[in-house]
Amino acid sequence: MQAIIQDHYGAPDLLQLRDIARPAVGDGEVRVRVRAAALHAGDCFGVRGTPFLMRMETGLWKPKYGVPGYDFAGYVEAVGKSVTRVRAGDEVFGACEGSCAEYTVTAEDKLAAKPSGLSFQQAAAIPTSGLAALHALRDVAKVQAGQQVMINGASGGVGTYAVQIAKSMGAEVTGVCGTDNVDMVRSLGADHVFDYRNHDFAAGGRQFDLIFDNIENRSLADCRRALKPTGMLILNSGTGAKGIKLLVRIIKPLLLSPMVRHTLRRYLSVPNHDDLVVLTEMTKAGTLTPVIDRIYPLAETPDAIRYLEQGHAKGKVVIDVGS
Ligand SMILES: NC(=O)c1ccc[n+]([C@@H]2O[C@H](COP(=O)([O-])OP(=O)(O)OC[C@H]3O[C@@H](n4cnc5c(N)ncnc54)[C@H](OP(=O)(O)O)[C@@H]3O)[C@@H](O)[C@H]2O)c1
Repeated sequence: MQAIIQDHYGAPDLLQLRDIARPAVGDGEVRVRVRAAALHAGDCFGVRGTPFLMRMETGLWKPKYGVPGYDFAGYVEAVGKSVTRVRAGDEVFGACEGSCAEYTVTAEDKLAAKPSGLSFQQAAAIPTSGLAALHALRDVAKVQAGQQVMINGASGGVGTYAVQIAKSMGAEVTGVCGTDNVDMVRSLGADHVFDYRNHDFAAGGRQFDLIFDNIENRSLADCRRALKPTGMLILNSGTGAKGIKLLVRIIKPLLLSPMVRHTLRRYLSVPNHDDLVVLTEMTKAGTLTPVIDRIYPLAETPDAIRYLEQGHAKGKVVIDVGS
């Protein structure tokens, strides 16, 4: 099969399109013929191996999985023993380790039936970013109807889902994004949109019950100024700093949180079948629509990573793996 191969950490130029053996399918696993993959910020870190802390997950000295991409949509080609939910030929979407390839393997619990009304490209755009938004808003923040929710980075992969999910939970949503994306974020349902180029959300205007911060370009003090007295700040990036500064950025809110009235949280979103079904139902109900910025052919995955690294994607960057 054709796959994008990553032998070492480094610039996206090191990625190569090569022929390799199809991955073996184990007990409880499903092998999928990938029709579309999607990338997210984590793929950029995984390709470069920075921040170094990420290597605890992706392999200390060289990439553990060798193929980038976490998200896919395609059809089931083979199932391992004890798989009960799907069978060969089913259209599915989900998360895996290495979706920038014609075939990938994942646990049965990390996929679900592809939303019937969506293309493979749209479905592939959902898992990691959609679940990250769902887990933050539903499980960490437990957003209630009527709450004032601000999404920083509302036009990005996670943000475009977060705006729609927060809105469907009945929140009054404020999105923060750049000038070019204001109309798009409003079209997703945001009640208010701040253009970060001319509006400082920390300048002492509106205060929020929840800030879901996908950018982390502001200090904790700035963010807390924009929170109501018992509001919550969910930090969902932490990657703008390096070395000791990165550690401080990760640990400081966790140490501070018990000492202040604000709740300061980080979280890790883990893909699972049931929540993919929740997102599927939302697409069917018309409350969730993937926003796709660009679609690249598999061979141009390095260009897709380079584009994503610039930090200005409008929604998701998708890889067309072909039929
Ligand atoms: N906790 C978890 O388990 C989990 C899971 C998935 C992802 N994440 C994290 O979530 C974060 C966001 O990921 P993503 O995929 O959404 O990133 P992304 O798609 O690369 O976000 C890019 C967006 O950010 C906007 N942006 C750039 N600078 C901004 C600023 N100063 N203020 C407001 N918006 C700005 C850009 O809009 P403009 O072009 O207008 O600037 C662009 O639309 C990443 O750090 C990722 O690691 C965490």
